[in-house]
Amino acid sequence: MPIPTLVTERLILRGVTEADADSYERHFVDYDVIRHLSAEVPWPYPTGGVRAFICAAIVPVQGHDRWVWGLHRKDVDGVIGAIDLRRDGERKNRGFWLGREFWGRGYMTEAVIRVNDFAFNELGFERLLFANAVSNERSRNIKLKTGARFIGVAPGKFVDAGYTQQEMWALTKEQWLAWKSRISEQR
Ligand SMILES: CC(C)(COP(=O)(O)OP(=O)(O)OC[C@H]1O[C@@H](n2cnc3c(N)ncnc32)[C@H](O)[C@@H]1OP(=O)(O)O)[C@@H](O)C(=O)NCCC(=O)NCCS
Repeated sequence: MPIPTLVTERLILRGVTEADADSYERHFVDYDVIRHLSAEVPWPYPTGGVRAFICAAIVPVQGHDRWVWGLHRKDVDGVIGAIDLRRDGERKNRGFWLGREFWGRGYMTEAVIRVNDFAFNELGFERLLFANAVSNERSRNIKLKTGARFIGVAPGKFVDAGYTQQEMWALTKEQWLAWKSRISEQR
């Protein structure tokens, strides 16, 4: 089912559909992006694999137990990354990636804030769990900057086999609302 479009200052987050396959593939199929992801993601990434993945693993579950948005800049067509929520993630309810050329501009932090709001306020999550490979500083920084609490380290398998440990994080609705009110007081 179609999922709601979310709007931030610079971005439009639209539910991923097959129409996004080309731009998704252009930015996603890059070892610097994929190596940080769960070992379930294939590498080398198969030709045409993004379209197949969108059709088989995203479209049928959109809005049921999973919400996958593509990040679009307001002024340019095409996805530059994606962010997703899943209800049943054992250790992880949220994932994200951004094309390498778009790193360092705050786009993912902006998307995360909107998606956290949606998770807690619209979808009724009481707690979100997150995970990242130990030493994936960019992913860890987003969690630190958006109120998540560090829980600990556990074994983990990633596309880059050099990563063997993952950091675990949690964020409750109460902590999120407190973080939001702290941020608005600082502004
Ligand atoms: C994880 C990932 C999305 C983070 O990307 P990112 O660009 O570092 O994150 P953001 O888009 O939130 O940008 C934050 C950076 O932009 C800077 N920035 C620039 N302008 C900014 C603005 N207007 N607002 C906020 N931050 C801004 C911040 O200072 C920060 O830079 P720093 O880390 O050098 O301090 C990206 O590295 C990625 O796709 N990695 C591969 C996949 C991956 O690891 N996924 C997560 C698996 S757990």
